[in-house]
Amino acid sequence: MIKDKILVIGACGQIGVELTLELRRIYGGANVVASDLREENPLLKGTGPYVSLDVMNKEMLHVQVIRQNITQIYLLAAILSATGEKNPNLAWHLNTTSLLNVLDIAKDENIRKVYWPSSIAVFGPTSPKKNCPQQTIIEPITVYGISKYAGEFWCNYFNHRYKVDVRSLRYPGLISYKSEPGGGTTDYAVEIFHDALAENHYTCFLKEDTYLPMMYMPDAIRATIELMESDEDKISIRTSYNISGMSFSPKEIGEEIKKHLPGFTMNYEPDYRLPIAQSWPQSIDDSVAQKDWDWKPKYNLASMTSEMLKNMK
Ligand code: NAD
Ligand code: SER
Repeated sequence: MIKDKILVIGACGQIGVELTLELRRIYGGANVVASDLREENPLLKGTGPYVSLDVMNKEMLHVQVIRQNITQIYLLAAILSATGEKNPNLAWHLNTTSLLNVLDIAKDENIRKVYWPSSIAVFGPTSPKKNCPQQTIIEPITVYGISKYAGEFWCNYFNHRYKVDVRSLRYPGLISYKSEPGGGTTDYAVEIFHDALAENHYTCFLKEDTYLPMMYMPDAIRATIELMESDEDKISIRTSYNISGMSFSPKEIGEEIKKHLPGFTMNYEPDYRLPIAQSWPQSIDDSVAQKDWDWKPKYNLASMTSEMLKNMK
């Protein structure tokens, strides 16, 4: 049996913290090296090795991969949709160069598997709004979406040309309570819980009827690990898989929160993030992921809301 040693890049972010903890539970703390530009997240402290690493520094990354005998890489470092629009050059540079650095090293060092997430942000205003299929018109309008779409094709290229086993999911907006979201358009669905518990009120930066695809973090972590543990011959998509959890609008999540906090109120002050959200599909068709590796979400709006409030209290 191959003894894997995993490097998680961007381990202190919204997904990185929970994914690192789950990988450490499965593979053993010492076999999962967490890395980030930031200081180590307090939740990771004492659970396994941590290195300070800038993924843009290819030489430094290469040294860590060799020194730590890495066999799998999870690349989570990126600039998300809303922050990306404030600095498009930086977002393009980080999101694409980080991936190329990792894929190049994976090719040269015989890394067994690479994980890199894409996003629903690859879709644009010309993609179908409801049940957006795996293969469809893809014309993203954000620099983040463009970088993810380009990244998907680099993954496909390295798989076909160099046999790098790189796997990817197009995550919907992710909802979590353990670590803060990092500058996305879907972050309202996390902020709303913090403000509901602190002030019983939330001012939303989207309109009340802005439906978006969303997923509770435990489902996203499980999907990631199920994809990575699937047999190679089951993986038919080498760009990135659509996956779906739930779909709701700000008004609907507000009404769900009100069932637990009866005095909760909301108002709406849409900003530059509204057109980004409106350019994305409202719901996703993930039938290819269901067929290839048996993907199935566990959480819906009601169960996610009650878990979030229970854990955050
Ligand atoms: P995040 O912003 O919370 O975390 C990213 C982490 O990367 C941060 O801790 C940051 O310090 C680190 N980082 C940034 N630049 C770095 C560098 N040069 N070197 C090393 N580390 C660096 O993001 P997240 O929400 O955890 O997202 C992780 C991945 O999942 C990203 O690729 C993102 O596009 C994708 N994704 C996230 C969501 C979501 O809703 N959170 C949805 C779709 C896709
Ligand atoms: N949650 C992400 C964002 O809003 C989607 O990739 O940017």
